[in-house]
Amino acid sequence: MHRIKKLLLENLVWSKGKTQNNPSYFTNMAEGQKPDYLWIGCSDSRVDPSELTNTQPGEMFVHRNVANLVVHTDLNLLSVVQYAVEALKVDHIIVCGHYNCGGVKAAMGSASLGVIDHWIRNIKDTYSFHRFEVDGIKSESDKVNRLVELNVMAQVKNLASTSIIQKAWNERQGFPALHGWVYDINTGLCKSIITIQSSNDLDSSHRYTF
Ligand code: CO
Repeated sequence: MHRIKKLLLENLVWSKGKTQNNPSYFTNMAEGQKPDYLWIGCSDSRVDPSELTNTQPGEMFVHRNVANLVVHTDLNLLSVVQYAVEALKVDHIIVCGHYNCGGVKAAMGSASLGVIDHWIRNIKDTYSFHRFEVDGIKSESDKVNRLVELNVMAQVKNLASTSIIQKAWNERQGFPALHGWVYDINTGLCKSIITIQSSNDLDSSHRYTF
């Protein structure tokens, strides 16, 4: 029980600290949000978007799930993306994976783990598509880490393939820009591996006209 009480006590200390130098900190914050970024990241507790980008409350709209997937039937994610793009008008969307991701590792294995089997099935498809390249890598951890990168690229393309993003690109000259990053838990550094701002980067079967 004390571990949960600790959180509430920490919250009390934090809120007092915020108002100490700026008495209107929370009343200003309560007026509304205008974040520039939408972050789509892994649920992994070590990959904290505001901590690792040093962004403050109000600066980043956030969606997290296991292995940072963009699944075109996921109403939760699509609702977040539509709100971020059409109401908040974010200029940048970051899909951030991380090396040594448990979700990606699980997708490379054959064990049945329950409901998550169906979620990470999306990564299994990416693995099977790039099987030749990934299986050609010697070290197990390098294999996982390459699939982490391929997964991020696939998710950025999934995002680019939504009508929400393509409609925005049409109206806002290539914004929001879509970025694929990979975070390295060993160094604390993010690496940018892909940026897409146009449906020309997609197969014509995935392009919409408006
Ligand atoms: Co992960």
